[in-house]
Amino acid sequence: MSKLLRVGVLASGGGTNLQAIIDRCQDGSLSAELVVVLTNKPGVGALDRASEAGIPTLCIDHRGFSSREAFDQAVVTALQDAGVELVVLAGFMRIITQVFLDAFPQRIINIHPALLPAFPGLHVQQQAIDYGARFSGCTVHFVDGGVDTGAIIIQAVVPVLPDDTADTLATRILEQEHRVYPQAIQLIADGRISIAGRQVIITPEIPTKPVALVNPAISDRSSRDQ
Ligand code: GRF
Repeated sequence: MSKLLRVGVLASGGGTNLQAIIDRCQDGSLSAELVVVLTNKPGVGALDRASEAGIPTLCIDHRGFSSREAFDQAVVTALQDAGVELVVLAGFMRIITQVFLDAFPQRIINIHPALLPAFPGLHVQQQAIDYGARFSGCTVHFVDGGVDTGAIIIQAVVPVLPDDTADTLATRILEQEHRVYPQAIQLIADGRISIAGRQVIITPEIPTKPVALVNPAISDRSSRDQ
């Protein structure tokens, strides 16, 4: 078996993305090993999911630190001690400082529940609904110094439906998150990803079907005439 990518997952909440990654590692479809799951909050679901899977856990409570940098340094040290090669943010509700970025250059990825660059930040499912967007989705991207601004690795699109609430839209988006996040990690594990400016290059290229999605659906002329 080829060498597994040593992944550290950072989470602050329930950890359904963490679970999807655990599941893919366990079924052998993801060539990664979760070497640590770290949270900034005690008692969150992500810690239970990791323990259940036999993954080492660590809680570093950000409230015990006088600055973001001091907190990040403690997190960096813990990740380095665990031999982490790729940092995966999965619902980690802290802004990353330069201390963290410098320790893991182009080695930190995040998943965001909107189609970036639309709707960065928080409460983005409600924002997409309020804006009247017809599509939303999720984005896996490298983390840089901005909020949800790094180079994009993969996106999935879902329609926004007329009776959607933030919760129903979030559920539909999460289903896609659980598919694309392991896929992005696998591409990195396989050494297929490089970054050129804002572009993420995948080698060899993955053929993409040039299929357009339309919402609300339209029928073309031929079907209208029938
Ligand atoms: C997801 O919607 C993710 O996109 C965002 O935080 C949420 C985490 O959910 N960054 P979970 O803890 O993985 O269930």
